[in-house]
Amino acid sequence: MPDREDPTATDRGGEADIAVHWQEEPMVAPPRAVRRPPHLADPTLKPRFASARFPGSFEAYAEMLTWSRRWDRTLDADRPPFYRWFPGGRLNASVNCIDRHLPDRAASPALVFVPEPESEAPEVLTYQDLYDRVNALAAYLHRGLGAVPGERVTLHLPMTPELPIAMLACARLGLPHSVVFSGFSGEACGLRIADSQSRFLITMDGYFRNGRWVDLRRAAERAYQVAHAEGHPPEKVLVLPRRPGHARWEPTLRPRVEIDLEAELQSYRSAREVAQDLPSDHPLFLMYTSGTTGRPKGVQHNLGGYLAYAAGTTYYYQDLDPDDVYWCMADIGWITGHTYIVYGPLALGAQVVLYEGVPTWPDAERPWRISEQLGVTVFHTSPTAIRQLRRLAPSGPGRHRTRFRLLTSVGEPIEPETWHWYFSEVGRGRAALVDAWWQTETGGILCATAPGVDPMKPGSAGPGALGIFPEIRDEEGRVIPPGSGRAGALVIPNPWPGQMAGIWGDPQRYVETYYRRFNLHPESTDWRDWPYVTGDGAVQAMDGYIRILGRMDDVINVAGHRLGAKEIESACLTVHAVAEAAVVPVSDPVKGRCPEVYIALRPGFEPSLDLADRVTRAVETTIGKIARPTRVWFVPDMPKTRSGKILRRVLAAISNRRPSGDLTTLANPEVVAEIEQLVRTARERSDAEAGRQ
Ligand code: WTA
Repeated sequence: MPDREDPTATDRGGEADIAVHWQEEPMVAPPRAVRRPPHLADPTLKPRFASARFPGSFEAYAEMLTWSRRWDRTLDADRPPFYRWFPGGRLNASVNCIDRHLPDRAASPALVFVPEPESEAPEVLTYQDLYDRVNALAAYLHRGLGAVPGERVTLHLPMTPELPIAMLACARLGLPHSVVFSGFSGEACGLRIADSQSRFLITMDGYFRNGRWVDLRRAAERAYQVAHAEGHPPEKVLVLPRRPGHARWEPTLRPRVEIDLEAELQSYRSAREVAQDLPSDHPLFLMYTSGTTGRPKGVQHNLGGYLAYAAGTTYYYQDLDPDDVYWCMADIGWITGHTYIVYGPLALGAQVVLYEGVPTWPDAERPWRISEQLGVTVFHTSPTAIRQLRRLAPSGPGRHRTRFRLLTSVGEPIEPETWHWYFSEVGRGRAALVDAWWQTETGGILCATAPGVDPMKPGSAGPGALGIFPEIRDEEGRVIPPGSGRAGALVIPNPWPGQMAGIWGDPQRYVETYYRRFNLHPESTDWRDWPYVTGDGAVQAMDGYIRILGRMDDVINVAGHRLGAKEIESACLTVHAVAEAAVVPVSDPVKGRCPEVYIALRPGFEPSLDLADRVTRAVETTIGKIARPTRVWFVPDMPKTRSGKILRRVLAAISNRRPSGDLTTLANPEVVAEIEQLVRTARERSDAEAGRQ
């Protein structure tokens, strides 16, 4: 059994088990130089979002959008946990992100694209340019290919303007898009095409990353084969060139399947495509994310609620106005990029920087150079990126004339030391720092301090966002009072507009994964009986600020990228010699967490470097390089309960150099000492080798 004292401890050895040991830090007041935005400093703001005002409070977010028809009700909660926000309302996301800004801002920059190679100059797309290009693509998809609302489109595209353009073209037509992170393998892309039954795949010949050309087009071949084998090949694969006029690919798929999209778009250059007038609960996009099973799930976000929440939280927590130059360094292939690069900022008519490459190319001062050149005022990134930049160039930010007024950290817990460097070196103590906690499923920020107004606490994601009232619960579902110092499961009791609408094609799994745990009355039609279970462990201080400890489930957050332990395990099992695989999170000074894998071989096979290599490569081809295990340990047997369940908690303890805890439930406790010995010896050997070099 897990340790009763700590409800975040799991049999799995989840991330939250690797407790983050930093102390509760004192509050830091917002620097005096930072502006106090009047809309945030307004003393009536929080009361307007008080729980007694729910759900009407969220109409303020919906009112930031342009609707062709106003909603009839704020929230339809008749069938929890299936919610419909602003039912009866009609709108279009591309109209909200582009068309409505044209009267005032047609010639203002919408996107500033910064290619990774410094030899290529930044490219500015005004709102008018964005309008033209979105219309051209939408016109081709509709008139050329006959796309009709509701059909899914998978986008496997890098961080170039073509990605937001494709998303907004889909949104214009009511085609839910499913963006697959460009670092994912062709195989991972193929499975997502099949699961969403996408009619089209839009991809690119390649892109630049870390100084190298990455061939994305080859992944499309594999994606096509995999989707075909799953019974749902895309009807068309549309390929764009990274450099217009310089395609670097040869067609290899069937001629009518694979299409040179650049050539097709020539005849649609000045086309205008009427935006579909869509109901508020029309699906806007799917975003596949890792969970507790071997297969990623398609998190579905619906138009009206999601877009309102994206706009509202961007307004209050990124505090953007049209004079700001805003740069979020996340990838659009993850939810952060969807909400806080594309939909939120563009809905507000902001100026958005889009950077193709890695922050450390060609050196770790690149982000500060870009920020100085473009005059970035609001900057948003992950703790992993901050740790990397700090490690490689600790005084890098000081050598540049940057003028940040707001900094954001998102995706993983940020430890106070890194927080302080970000605040004093990057922000020079003159910028507010927002540590924003949220998830793919939540659509937008759920915990954060209001920038410039709320005091900040290093290492703590702050209080619930407007209209959000987070709670920490123990194993029995009882609320743990703030300030008790006890950790527990983080839950959100009330619905909110950014909340996922469901899991694509699997309503049952949606209910089971996110609501079953603390639901006492499965028949209840009162939303109060359906608290949303985040999967994170957390502690809440007396002042209500929440410190996230990490995942309590099978998700491992590597460098802010969300990976499924079971997905990695399934990938390992594709190697014939592997009998059993167990993946555990290990704490890492730069990436936060990394996966290590334990392998038991089938009889007749011996551990070897070659086998370890094959296991690593299997993970890379099935998922992508980001999931590559940092160590592969071959063990004689897995520690197991009497019912045969692998106790990953024990392996996680060994990997994290912690005591393995209670072993009484094990059927084979003797194997633990053997594994400990084996890991210790290997570590000593590699430490000695490192010492010799
Ligand atoms: C983690 C990313 C601590 C958390 C937006 C969550 C964080 C998972 C923070 C979701 C933060 C995100 N502090 N942990 N500020 N933000 N997380 O779906 O474990 O890619 O459950 O969404 O990242 O990852 P996802």
